[in-house]
Amino acid sequence: MNRLNGKTAVITGGATGIGLAAAKRFIEEGAFVFIYGRRQETLDTAVADLGPNARGLKGSVSDLADLDRLYTAVKAERGTLDIVFANAGVGSQLVLGKITGEHIDETFDTNVKGTIFTVQQALPLMGQGGSIILTGSSAGTTGAPGMTAYSASKAAVRNLARTWAEDLKGTGIRVNVLSPGATATELAKDALGEEGQKVFASMTPLQRMADPAEIGVVAAFLASSDSSFMTASEVAVDGGLAQL
Ligand SMILES: NC(=O)c1ccc[n+]([C@@H]2O[C@H](COP(=O)([O-])OP(=O)(O)OC[C@H]3O[C@@H](n4cnc5c(N)ncnc54)[C@H](OP(=O)(O)O)[C@@H]3O)[C@@H](O)[C@H]2O)c1
Repeated sequence: MNRLNGKTAVITGGATGIGLAAAKRFIEEGAFVFIYGRRQETLDTAVADLGPNARGLKGSVSDLADLDRLYTAVKAERGTLDIVFANAGVGSQLVLGKITGEHIDETFDTNVKGTIFTVQQALPLMGQGGSIILTGSSAGTTGAPGMTAYSASKAAVRNLARTWAEDLKGTGIRVNVLSPGATATELAKDALGEEGQKVFASMTPLQRMADPAEIGVVAAFLASSDSSFMTASEVAVDGGLAQL
């Protein structure tokens, strides 16, 4: 399929997990992709894997000067931008009673503030036909032990698409949320541990975790004109976890 032929995409958190799987899929479908994250070595490994239609840019989504550098590089090499996959996120568990200010700040600085500025700084490069995809989570809908900050941050992300569909009226730019369930990535391993991953897999109607590629393929659909009449939507790719 060449649904993304000639398109330029930015994927935050694109060097690992869901972001890397989406980057592979976008490139397979014809896109040129900038991946963004804080670890240079991880970016270098991913770019070597992705090939000549990928660039790696180091920075944090919670740092506006870093984001400026990202979009300056996109403008210099590509001129305009078609797709933003605001996917970078962090998640760790702390039960009510143990929550700290640092835990809230880290989670919201990345998942909420980071998502907002990833998109806001991209807008001057985007226009008609643009697609913004935000990574939500089944945790934004369901309750789970110790997930106060993470779940609240992802519920906020879900609302960003609703609000921005209003703010973007008349621009031709669409914005949707892609909400994975339990997916086999570094984040899931760190946040849930081996035992927690088994629990989430068993709670999922499809009885397993997702492979990141199963999320990346839906990101490509939302990036492409195949989803041309979709905006403000949340697309659950969660094996049914949050749907019963
Ligand atoms: N895995 C799951 O079960 C699951 C379920 C639902 C939703 N999600 C969401 O899916 C998204 C991707 O996560 P993943 O599961 O693929 O895990 P992952 O492999 O750990 O990916 C997270 C990515 O975000 C990047 N990142 C984190 N903080 C950043 C920052 N401040 N600035 C720039 N990049 C940052 C990380 O790179 P650096 O550390 O190098 O910066 C990493 O590449 C997240 O939003 C997560 O909440 C995951």
